[in-house]
Amino acid sequence: MRKVMITAAAVASAAVLALSGCSGASDRGGDAGGGDAASGFEEGSVIGVALPDKTSENWTIAGEIFTDALTEAGYEPNVQYAGSTSPVPDQQAQISTMIQDGAKVIVIGANDAKQLGSQVADAKEQGVTIISYDRLISDTENVDYYVAFNNFKVGQEQGQALLDGLAAKFPDKTTYNIELIAGAATDPNAAVFFNGAMDVLQPKIDDGTLVVVSGQDTFEQVQTDKWDPANAQSRMDTVLQGFYQGDVAIDGVLAPNDTLARAAIQSVKDASKGPIVVTGQDSEAASIPLIMSGEQYMTIYKDTRKLVAQTVEMIKSLAAGEEAETNAEEDNGAKEVPTFYLDPVVVTAENAAEVYKDNDTLFPLTQQ
Ligand code: BGC
Repeated sequence: MRKVMITAAAVASAAVLALSGCSGASDRGGDAGGGDAASGFEEGSVIGVALPDKTSENWTIAGEIFTDALTEAGYEPNVQYAGSTSPVPDQQAQISTMIQDGAKVIVIGANDAKQLGSQVADAKEQGVTIISYDRLISDTENVDYYVAFNNFKVGQEQGQALLDGLAAKFPDKTTYNIELIAGAATDPNAAVFFNGAMDVLQPKIDDGTLVVVSGQDTFEQVQTDKWDPANAQSRMDTVLQGFYQGDVAIDGVLAPNDTLARAAIQSVKDASKGPIVVTGQDSEAASIPLIMSGEQYMTIYKDTRKLVAQTVEMIKSLAAGEEAETNAEEDNGAKEVPTFYLDPVVVTAENAAEVYKDNDTLFPLTQQ
């Protein structure tokens, strides 16, 4: 269930914004129940940041930016990544250590969103505020805030881009053969991306415009363990061998992020098929040349600098003894979590240079 929280404060702040000529609605966190928000905390306090892994570039970048931004804001950052061998116990232990070290706020990008219940319960007992970062920790009341790009919208944009890309690349076709890939079931975002995309694609599957040739069209069938590109690529290899023999063409692949998009492209190349229309997400440096050449049709820009900056704003409010600003609520299965959503941006070859113009890493890649 997704609904925008409307409170008296929201109405009031909307009125102020309307008067001042600004757009956008925001409100204060309402029933945040956040740690010890009323008393705030001092400069120099420890802020924990627990990140899930380094499988996507956005996580690697986030660690660096958090360290810099929190230091600059006067806090003592403790940024940790779960290791790849046993990420869940790793992350659990890291969070427990952060609590013991007296962290005032712990920012968590969950590796497995269902397995942090006892750690966030401990945090709550110690008066630590928990901010779910990018991925919403599920089935616990002990999450105070959520900050993310709107993931359902990401999925819808991927679905729409797949349709647009197919129509543009194959103007003579009226039906298209496609396959679907989703992320890891342990990451609640993966199902949200998939459901957002299917919100757009399902009607076109139902009316026969899109044909999922393998018949694998449920989240369970298409999910990718650990978001690992090797797993996605091997499923695609099997699907192509099994269902695309001879001159059966594959026209498109719904891929949920850039690492899995590149895996799909490789698999299709290895099977001597293609070219295809592939979606992605994250604006990874390795995908930008593919976007510019059209090998990958689109990606999504979720500027990590903005997401971290918004999180640090939340932390500053909490330090001042205030509630953090939010603009939505998201149901995590146990409560409506006060949420701040940022808007994702669709990127294709056409707008890449414009979208990345203030990004020193990505912009040059659009000029080669
Ligand atoms: C993030 C994506 C990322 C994926 C794999 C998701 O939770 O929202 O940006 O590609 O995890 O790391």
